[in-house]
Amino acid sequence: MTVKPAVLITGASTGIGAVYADRFAKRGHDLVLVARDKARMDSLAARLREETGVSVDVLQADLTDAGDLARIESRVRDDASIGILVNNAGMSGTGTFLEQAPDAVSQVINLNITALARLTSAITPRLVQAGTGSIINVASVVGLAPELQMTVYGATKAFVLFLSQGLNIELGAKGLYVQAVLPAATRTEIWERSGKRIEDLPAVMEVDDLVDAALVGFDRRETVTIPPLPDEDQWKALEAARLAMLPNFRQVLPAARYRNGV
Ligand SMILES: NC(=O)c1ccc[n+]([C@@H]2O[C@H](COP(=O)([O-])OP(=O)(O)OC[C@H]3O[C@@H](n4cnc5c(N)ncnc54)[C@H](OP(=O)(O)O)[C@@H]3O)[C@@H](O)[C@H]2O)c1
Repeated sequence: MTVKPAVLITGASTGIGAVYADRFAKRGHDLVLVARDKARMDSLAARLREETGVSVDVLQADLTDAGDLARIESRVRDDASIGILVNNAGMSGTGTFLEQAPDAVSQVINLNITALARLTSAITPRLVQAGTGSIINVASVVGLAPELQMTVYGATKAFVLFLSQGLNIELGAKGLYVQAVLPAATRTEIWERSGKRIEDLPAVMEVDDLVDAALVGFDRRETVTIPPLPDEDQWKALEAARLAMLPNFRQVLPAARYRNGV
């Protein structure tokens, strides 16, 4: 029997990450849970060990702290049993751009971009060397929608989408599979953490439904999974429009509309 790879999940103490932990344990994968709230992870770990028999390791870490992040980087770099990384920890920040001080902007970038990119960078050479391995990056539909006015948060999620697409193109042939998951509003604590009332949202997906749908996309090896999007042809049309532009970027002269006298 082949041994299933262990799964390291960031932001596993609650919300989407805790449901990923539940689902991967039920699929028979050992787990490494990472977040700040150790008590919550210990209680989730105890339940999952009891219910599924998998082994669960709990690592307390603030991923915006360079020392803590380095510890988790070492774990994903050196622990050959970890074959799946779920980069899920994230925050949306409070307030509008004008209300966010530079330190608050940095905090969102440190968690949503720096920690995610550094963990990805730490694990990828080992997965490529092994010729197999997966990374699930939890992005957001906000990364496609500046209209939603969650500008810094959306910009970080656009980074996550691009990084995921780029890694598939660069390293897919070497056995690395990267999935970007783009949830829309989902019932978790992220809303109250960012000072918003979930009751004010027009539609909210339940977190179990979101993760189960994302895992269907994972099993199908989708590069981009948008659980709330009813018509996947809309995403395909956007990608086709982007790809159609690429050859047109190869020009010696600026476009006629930018040339003097035209
Ligand atoms: N819920 C939504 O509507 C929605 C929509 C689109 C995308 N997403 C994305 O989904 C992912 C999960 O969010 P969620 O909705 O499940 O949010 P959540 O319920 O607030 O959970 C966030 C998780 O990240 C952990 N975390 C937060 N700050 C951390 C830090 N500095 N260091 C380490 N861990 C940290 C939290 O644990 P501790 O507090 O214990 O550290 C928690 O486990 C995020 O990337 C989010 O952007 C969510």
